[in-house]
Amino acid sequence: INGKQKNIVWHDCPVTKSDRQELIKQKGCVIWITGLSGSGKSSLACALSRALHNRGKLSYILDGDNVRHGLNSDLSFEAEDRAENIRRVGEVAKLFADAGIICIASLISPYRRERAACRALLPEGDFIEVFMDVPLHVCEARDPKGLYKRARAGKIKGFTGVDDPYEPPLDCEIVIQNNRDKGLSSSSTSSSLCEMAEIVV
Ligand code: PPS
Repeated sequence: INGKQKNIVWHDCPVTKSDRQELIKQKGCVIWITGLSGSGKSSLACALSRALHNRGKLSYILDGDNVRHGLNSDLSFEAEDRAENIRRVGEVAKLFADAGIICIASLISPYRRERAACRALLPEGDFIEVFMDVPLHVCEARDPKGLYKRARAGKIKGFTGVDDPYEPPLDCEIVIQNNRDKGLSSSSTSSSLCEMAEIVV
Protein backbone atom coordinates (compact mmCIF):
# COMPACT_ATOMS: atom_id res chain seq x y z
CA ILE A 1 0.00 0.00 0.00
CA ASN A 2 1.49 3.34 -0.95
CA GLY A 3 1.10 6.62 0.88
CA LYS A 4 -1.91 7.68 -1.22
CA GLN A 5 -4.09 4.90 0.17
CA LYS A 6 -6.06 5.72 3.30
CA ASN A 7 -9.06 4.21 5.06
CA ILE A 8 -9.05 0.98 3.12
CA VAL A 9 -9.52 -2.36 4.83
CA TRP A 10 -8.77 -5.79 3.35
CA HIS A 11 -11.89 -7.93 2.94
CA ASP A 12 -11.58 -11.72 2.97
CA CYS A 13 -14.02 -14.02 1.17
CA PRO A 14 -14.99 -17.40 2.65
CA VAL A 15 -14.26 -19.04 -0.71
CA THR A 16 -10.49 -19.41 -0.48
CA LYS A 17 -7.64 -19.98 -2.89
CA SER A 18 -7.49 -23.63 -1.83
CA ASP A 19 -11.24 -23.97 -2.49
CA ARG A 20 -10.72 -22.68 -6.03
CA GLN A 21 -7.67 -24.87 -6.59
CA GLU A 22 -9.57 -27.88 -5.33
CA LEU A 23 -12.44 -27.07 -7.71
CA ILE A 24 -10.25 -26.90 -10.82
CA LYS A 25 -7.74 -29.51 -9.58
CA GLN A 26 -4.60 -27.49 -10.09
CA LYS A 27 -2.31 -25.12 -8.26
CA GLY A 28 -2.10 -21.48 -9.29
CA CYS A 29 1.38 -20.07 -9.84
CA VAL A 30 3.33 -17.57 -11.92
CA ILE A 31 5.86 -18.49 -14.57
CA TRP A 32 7.77 -15.30 -15.33
CA ILE A 33 9.66 -15.28 -18.63
CA THR A 34 12.29 -12.55 -18.98
CA GLY A 35 14.70 -11.77 -21.81
CA LEU A 36 15.58 -9.42 -24.62
CA SER A 37 13.22 -8.56 -27.44
CA GLY A 38 13.46 -11.36 -30.00
CA SER A 39 14.72 -13.92 -27.47
CA GLY A 40 11.61 -16.08 -27.92
CA LYS A 41 9.62 -15.20 -24.79
CA SER A 42 6.23 -15.09 -26.51
CA SER A 43 6.88 -18.27 -28.51
CA LEU A 44 7.90 -20.09 -25.35
CA ALA A 45 4.85 -18.75 -23.49
CA CYS A 46 2.55 -20.04 -26.25
CA ALA A 47 4.28 -23.42 -26.44
CA LEU A 48 4.10 -23.80 -22.67
CA SER A 49 0.46 -22.76 -22.56
CA ARG A 50 -0.30 -25.36 -25.24
CA ALA A 51 1.67 -28.06 -23.38
CA LEU A 52 -0.24 -27.29 -20.18
CA HIS A 53 -3.57 -27.16 -21.98
CA ASN A 54 -2.88 -30.58 -23.49
CA ARG A 55 -2.31 -31.84 -19.95
CA GLY A 56 -5.71 -30.45 -18.90
CA LYS A 57 -4.28 -27.43 -17.06
CA LEU A 58 -5.71 -23.94 -17.24
CA SER A 59 -3.15 -21.24 -18.02
CA TYR A 60 -3.23 -17.64 -19.16
CA ILE A 61 -0.54 -15.54 -20.81
CA LEU A 62 0.20 -11.94 -19.85
CA ASP A 63 2.38 -10.78 -22.74
CA GLY A 64 4.17 -7.42 -22.48
CA ASP A 65 3.27 -6.32 -25.99
CA ASN A 66 -0.39 -7.32 -25.51
CA VAL A 67 -0.84 -5.84 -22.03
CA ARG A 68 0.56 -2.58 -23.38
CA HIS A 69 -2.42 -2.47 -25.79
CA GLY A 70 -4.85 -2.13 -22.87
CA LEU A 71 -4.13 -2.10 -19.14
CA ASN A 72 -0.69 -0.55 -19.64
CA SER A 73 -1.38 1.56 -22.71
CA ASP A 74 -0.53 4.68 -20.69
CA LEU A 75 3.07 3.55 -20.10
CA SER A 76 6.17 4.41 -22.12
CA PHE A 77 9.54 2.65 -22.23
CA GLU A 78 11.19 5.13 -19.85
CA ALA A 79 12.68 3.40 -16.80
CA GLU A 80 9.96 4.58 -14.44
CA ASP A 81 7.18 3.40 -16.74
CA ARG A 82 8.85 0.04 -17.39
CA ALA A 83 9.02 -0.43 -13.62
CA GLU A 84 5.31 0.39 -13.34
CA ASN A 85 4.57 -1.95 -16.26
CA ILE A 86 6.33 -4.80 -14.46
CA ARG A 87 4.70 -3.94 -11.13
CA ARG A 88 1.18 -4.00 -12.61
CA VAL A 89 1.76 -7.24 -14.48
CA GLY A 90 3.18 -8.75 -11.27
CA GLU A 91 0.04 -7.76 -9.38
CA VAL A 92 -2.27 -9.09 -12.10
CA ALA A 93 -0.25 -12.32 -12.27
CA LYS A 94 -0.70 -12.70 -8.52
CA LEU A 95 -4.47 -12.38 -8.95
CA PHE A 96 -4.45 -15.07 -11.65
CA ALA A 97 -2.43 -17.37 -9.38
CA ASP A 98 -4.87 -16.63 -6.56
CA ALA A 99 -7.67 -17.69 -8.90
CA GLY A 100 -5.89 -21.04 -9.29
CA ILE A 101 -4.62 -20.35 -12.80
CA ILE A 102 -1.10 -20.94 -14.10
CA CYS A 103 -0.16 -17.43 -15.19
CA ILE A 104 2.60 -17.10 -17.76
CA ALA A 105 4.01 -13.57 -17.76
CA SER A 106 6.16 -12.80 -20.76
CA LEU A 107 7.86 -9.41 -20.51
CA ILE A 108 11.34 -8.08 -21.16
CA SER A 109 11.22 -7.02 -17.48
CA PRO A 110 14.79 -5.74 -17.66
CA TYR A 111 15.30 -4.83 -14.02
CA ARG A 112 16.26 -7.28 -11.25
CA ARG A 113 14.70 -5.19 -8.52
CA GLU A 114 11.26 -5.18 -10.13
CA ARG A 115 11.38 -8.90 -10.93
CA ALA A 116 12.32 -9.58 -7.30
CA ALA A 117 9.39 -7.43 -6.15
CA CYS A 118 7.01 -9.53 -8.31
CA ARG A 119 8.50 -12.71 -6.85
CA ALA A 120 7.97 -11.35 -3.33
CA LEU A 121 4.22 -11.05 -4.01
CA LEU A 122 3.84 -14.83 -4.12
CA PRO A 123 4.40 -17.64 -1.63
CA GLU A 124 7.79 -19.36 -1.84
CA GLY A 125 7.89 -21.73 -4.80
CA ASP A 126 4.94 -20.19 -6.62
CA PHE A 127 7.06 -17.84 -8.76
CA ILE A 128 9.16 -19.57 -11.39
CA GLU A 129 11.55 -17.25 -13.20
CA VAL A 130 12.66 -18.33 -16.66
CA PHE A 131 15.53 -16.52 -18.37
CA MET A 132 15.71 -16.61 -22.16
CA ASP A 133 19.50 -16.48 -22.33
CA VAL A 134 20.00 -15.38 -25.91
CA PRO A 135 22.93 -13.14 -26.88
CA LEU A 136 22.04 -9.71 -28.20
CA HIS A 137 23.62 -10.42 -31.60
CA VAL A 138 21.33 -13.44 -32.07
CA CYS A 139 18.21 -11.43 -31.14
CA GLU A 140 19.37 -8.67 -33.41
CA ALA A 141 19.99 -11.05 -36.31
CA ARG A 142 16.46 -12.43 -35.89
CA ASP A 143 14.87 -8.98 -35.50
CA PRO A 144 11.35 -10.35 -36.12
CA LYS A 145 9.68 -6.93 -35.89
CA GLY A 146 12.51 -4.86 -37.43
CA LEU A 147 12.83 -2.96 -34.13
CA TYR A 148 16.59 -3.46 -33.67
CA LYS A 149 17.15 -2.06 -37.14
CA ARG A 150 15.05 0.98 -36.28
CA ALA A 151 16.81 1.37 -32.93
CA ARG A 152 20.26 1.22 -34.59
CA ALA A 153 19.08 3.83 -37.08
CA GLY A 154 18.16 6.09 -34.14
CA LYS A 155 14.44 5.86 -34.90
CA ILE A 156 13.67 4.22 -31.54
CA LYS A 157 15.36 5.67 -28.47
CA GLY A 158 15.99 3.59 -25.35
CA PHE A 159 15.70 0.17 -26.93
CA THR A 160 16.60 -2.66 -24.55
CA GLY A 161 20.07 -4.04 -25.27
CA VAL A 162 20.91 -1.24 -27.70
CA ASP A 163 20.79 1.92 -25.58
CA ASP A 164 18.80 0.74 -22.57
CA PRO A 165 19.90 -1.78 -19.92
CA TYR A 166 18.96 -5.41 -19.44
CA GLU A 167 19.92 -7.04 -16.13
CA PRO A 168 20.06 -10.83 -16.54
CA PRO A 169 18.89 -12.90 -13.57
CA LEU A 170 21.68 -13.97 -11.20
CA ASP A 171 19.66 -16.78 -9.72
CA CYS A 172 16.51 -18.00 -11.43
CA GLU A 173 14.72 -21.33 -11.64
CA ILE A 174 15.25 -22.05 -15.35
CA VAL A 175 17.70 -20.78 -17.99
CA ILE A 176 16.94 -21.45 -21.65
CA GLN A 177 19.75 -21.01 -24.13
CA ASN A 178 17.78 -20.42 -27.26
CA ASN A 179 20.66 -19.51 -29.55
CA ARG A 180 19.44 -20.78 -32.87
CA ASP A 181 18.98 -18.22 -35.58
CA LYS A 182 15.31 -18.91 -36.01
CA GLY A 183 12.44 -19.83 -33.73
CA LEU A 184 12.12 -22.11 -30.80
CA SER A 185 12.77 -25.70 -31.69
CA SER A 186 15.97 -26.87 -30.06
CA SER A 187 15.78 -30.04 -28.03
CA SER A 188 16.99 -28.16 -24.95
CA THR A 189 13.96 -25.92 -25.27
CA SER A 190 11.60 -28.87 -25.57
CA SER A 191 13.09 -30.51 -22.51
CA SER A 192 12.88 -27.20 -20.60
CA LEU A 193 9.24 -26.97 -21.62
CA CYS A 194 8.58 -30.44 -20.22
CA GLU A 195 10.56 -29.52 -17.11
CA MET A 196 8.42 -26.41 -16.64
CA ALA A 197 5.19 -28.25 -17.26
CA GLU A 198 6.22 -30.91 -14.74
CA ILE A 199 7.06 -28.28 -12.13
CA VAL A 200 3.66 -26.66 -12.32
CA VAL A 201 1.37 -29.62 -13.00
S1 PPS B 1 9.30 -3.95 -20.51
O1 PPS B 1 10.69 -3.52 -20.63
O2 PPS B 1 9.19 -5.19 -19.69
O3 PPS B 1 8.45 -2.87 -19.96
O4 PPS B 1 8.83 -4.30 -21.98
P1 PPS B 1 7.53 -5.12 -22.45
O5 PPS B 1 6.31 -4.61 -21.79
O6 PPS B 1 7.80 -6.57 -22.36
O7 PPS B 1 7.39 -4.72 -23.98
C1 PPS B 1 8.38 -5.13 -24.88
C2 PPS B 1 7.86 -5.05 -26.32
O8 PPS B 1 7.70 -3.70 -26.70
C3 PPS B 1 8.27 -3.45 -27.98
N1 PPS B 1 9.14 -2.28 -27.79
C4 PPS B 1 10.28 -2.18 -27.08
N2 PPS B 1 11.03 -3.10 -26.42
C5 PPS B 1 12.15 -2.65 -25.78
N3 PPS B 1 12.56 -1.36 -25.77
C6 PPS B 1 11.84 -0.42 -26.43
N4 PPS B 1 12.24 0.86 -26.41
C7 PPS B 1 10.66 -0.83 -27.11
N5 PPS B 1 9.73 -0.16 -27.86
C8 PPS B 1 8.82 -1.05 -28.27
C9 PPS B 1 8.93 -4.72 -28.44
O9 PPS B 1 8.09 -5.22 -29.46
C10 PPS B 1 8.88 -5.65 -27.25
O10 PPS B 1 8.35 -6.92 -27.59
P2 PPS B 1 9.18 -8.31 -27.49
O11 PPS B 1 8.10 -9.34 -27.44
O12 PPS B 1 9.99 -8.29 -26.21
O13 PPS B 1 9.99 -8.38 -28.70
